[in-house]
Amino acid sequence: MSRWTTHATLFVGLSILASVPLFAQQASEEPPAGPGLELIQRSCVSCHDIYMITTKRKTPEQWAEVMDLMAARGAEVTPDEMQIIAEYLSQNFSPSGARAAQQQSASKH
Ligand code: HEC
Repeated sequence: MSRWTTHATLFVGLSILASVPLFAQQASEEPPAGPGLELIQRSCVSCHDIYMITTKRKTPEQWAEVMDLMAARGAEVTPDEMQIIAEYLSQNFSPSGARAAQQQSASKH
């Protein structure tokens, strides 16, 4: 293999790698509907987009921590709403869920 081919192969490989995670995120990260999602769309996307949330995989304890943190940062949610959002996120975005497995294989580089 010549020097040039080696570089070209490396370049093509890198550009494919670079484009895959973005594509996977847009295509397969439609969050499931539910009351939690409506609250998130109302209260959580003023500072960052929803992918900041839906690309994460956390345990219920970790999601509860995130809720405390975001409330401290200024998210406008009542304690009841925080509960609903935390449950929704724990159910749909947990480290062990089926969606988590999908996510891991999609983002492996
Ligand atoms: C007042 C602005 C603001 C609002 C409203 C807000 N966030 Fe955030 N959020 C931030 C900032 C700033 C970060 C930046 C990264 C950091 O330092 O953690 C962040 C980061 C995050 C992260 C990534 C951090 C991690 O530990 O993975 C998650 C998840 C998250 N927010 C969830 C939420 C949820 C859920 C809501 C709605 C209840 C929400 N955010 C509302 C400001 C906000």
